[in-house]
Amino acid sequence: MSRILSGIQPTGNIHLGNYLGAIKNWVSLQHDHESLFCIVDLHAITLPQDPKMLRENTYFAAATYLACGVDVSKSAVFPQSAVSGHSELGWILGCHTPLGWLNRMTQFKEKSGKHKDKACLGLYAYPVLQAADILLYKATHVPVGEDQKQHLELARDIAGAFNRNYDQDFFPLPEPQIFGTTTRVMSLRDGSSKMSKSADSDFSRINLTDDNDTITQKIRKAKSDADPLPAEKTGLENRPEAENMVNIYAAVTQQPVETVLKEFAGSTFAPFKAALTEALVAHLEPIRTDIAHLLQDRAHLDQLMSQGTDKARTVARATMAQVQDMVGLAKSES
Ligand code: AQP
Repeated sequence: MSRILSGIQPTGNIHLGNYLGAIKNWVSLQHDHESLFCIVDLHAITLPQDPKMLRENTYFAAATYLACGVDVSKSAVFPQSAVSGHSELGWILGCHTPLGWLNRMTQFKEKSGKHKDKACLGLYAYPVLQAADILLYKATHVPVGEDQKQHLELARDIAGAFNRNYDQDFFPLPEPQIFGTTTRVMSLRDGSSKMSKSADSDFSRINLTDDNDTITQKIRKAKSDADPLPAEKTGLENRPEAENMVNIYAAVTQQPVETVLKEFAGSTFAPFKAALTEALVAHLEPIRTDIAHLLQDRAHLDQLMSQGTDKARTVARATMAQVQDMVGLAKSES
């Protein structure tokens, strides 16, 4: 049975990149795979977090998953920290991960910035915990955006190292599922940077909570270039801002890029941006309304997350019992 696992950090406004690069694909994949979607709060604390906000953002992430179409009758939605196996397996896998592999991880280099000595051990070990998230459930497929490719390759390497060490085909090597036209949604202010939660300018991203006027303003102010839109995909080469907006339009209107370019060939950005705004507003307004609605009933969200946690714990306990046995550790209490 194929099984998918993915997650998002509860670190603030979930944006169009998180949605088009990850959540939208989860929604389509959940019909054909056993699915687990966690809210990765243990990853979030690799950078300083306000405890109240972290808890609030966990509810917000759960509401967002549901509003985007994650169906709890098919998929488990749960906070990562509610299943202790993530941390336990993270430690064990860390003891099977050479430092040389971690030293190559570009996300640590980017997120630790100029002050590497002040970055915490958790940030450095982040990709090992991510491998544990996946392998705890023996997930076969992991739908993520392109920025996670290197971490997924590491998860495969760690799974292979563990299997070889105990001479068993124990963990499946997880397949990254990076697909669609929006595997890397770029900043609206700079087509060479990824759209991200942590970028200083809120005008660089569309948040799923942005109202229609804000979306309109952000698209109007989005960086473009002086040329009309081309008729062919090759005409988007070296035009990162144009390519990004065309990709977003194609994703939200569910059309191939080629079809979009046929429609807008020769058009200036003003009419294209108007069409893009209209498509984004039509797509995101129902999601925004649902998020707000779901957030009004925390008890219901608690109940759904507890149901997801129970499902996840059942799988996690079975894996941990086998891992403890293979490694030669004493069995845990639960
Ligand atoms: N711009 C993006 N395009 C496509 N996919 C993206 N993802 C993130 N940004 C883009 C995908 O979203 C999922 C959640 O990743 P995460 O929880 O690690 O997200 P994050 O790092 O908190 O989000 P940001 O915006 O990327 O944060 P910062 O600013 O901290 O760098 C993953 O599947 C990811 O690929």
